[in-house]
Amino acid sequence: MNLENLRPFVEAERNCKVWAIGGGKGGVGKSLVTANTSICLALMGYKVVTVDLDLGGANMHTCLGIPIPDKTLSDYISNKVTNINDLLVPTPIRNLQIISGAQDELGIANLKQMHKNKILSKLNELDADFVLLDLGAGTTFNTLDFFISADKGILVILPEPTSIENTYRFIKSVYHRRLKMIEELLDIQPLINQAMNAKISSPGSTPVELVKRIIDINPEAGHRLQTEISKFKPHIIMNQIRNQQDIDIGFSIQSVCKRYFGIDLKYVGYLDYDAAVWQSVKKRKPLLMEFPNSRLVNNFDRIVHKLLEIN
Ligand SMILES: Nc1ncnc2c1ncn2[C@@H]1O[C@H](COP(=O)(O)OP(=O)(O)OP(=O)(O)O)[C@@H](O)[C@H]1O
Ligand SMILES: [Mg+2]
Repeated sequence: MNLENLRPFVEAERNCKVWAIGGGKGGVGKSLVTANTSICLALMGYKVVTVDLDLGGANMHTCLGIPIPDKTLSDYISNKVTNINDLLVPTPIRNLQIISGAQDELGIANLKQMHKNKILSKLNELDADFVLLDLGAGTTFNTLDFFISADKGILVILPEPTSIENTYRFIKSVYHRRLKMIEELLDIQPLINQAMNAKISSPGSTPVELVKRIIDINPEAGHRLQTEISKFKPHIIMNQIRNQQDIDIGFSIQSVCKRYFGIDLKYVGYLDYDAAVWQSVKKRKPLLMEFPNSRLVNNFDRIVHKLLEIN
């Protein structure tokens, strides 16, 4: 994969804002967050398109309360549909449209670079203020590239060790991939590999130390690296929280990432554990529409305002 091809998408000036929602682990609430953040923005009057990029596990249509659309990304990838706008399907919510994920066995890992670039370049042509991408689970290169290319990358985390571990893995993978985009330019590949192989607990060889060392050896390369790293500001949401300890896990992750990677993670809020979630899933109705008095309405309201505030 030629990472230089990704650069134009990372640096693209778009008419719309692209927010990508991921998380290393399955079942943590990515689709819940994508669907209901989309709804919040649409209710605020923004034009929103939700794109289901969970290829192989596409279910955003159900989260938004509609049947499987006739046309999906599969048709676009196979050239049966040539204009991405022809994939847009209205939802019961005003201002909110969906592009449905593939319904065949095409998984995100199998998406060819050409098709990924085709999707990335056309997101800009959608008539929308916001385009939200549900990335599905995992850390395949395609998932990482959609996350990296977005204006905002949002990670959903459960207060459970496995989810926290996968979050670090995801952040480390994205961080590494961003570095790879410039390492050839700067000729610092061996140093980067050494730092990325270091354990979180081993002092002196973390990515933060790496940057310091590179600045010493080659100030120009080091500062370019630092600028590149400072652009990486993932947002995190803690989901299914039951107490203050669960909420505080988000702050711990934030400080570990600062210490280890030297990156400023934005903790944009939490979502309470609420039985209304699975009740709405069972009813195939969007949570915010079906349970307008749920605590999650306030949770989402706070998160979306925070996301809109942060550049
Ligand atoms: N805040 C919450 N309160 C209660 N249950 C929740 C909450 N968030 C998620 N769930 C439960 O977790 C399930 C998984 O959520 P969701 O489908 O959004 O996860 P996902 O990360 O998109 O999963 P996948 O990786 O399979 O796509 C929901 O169907 C619901 O039952
Ligand atoms: Mg999902």
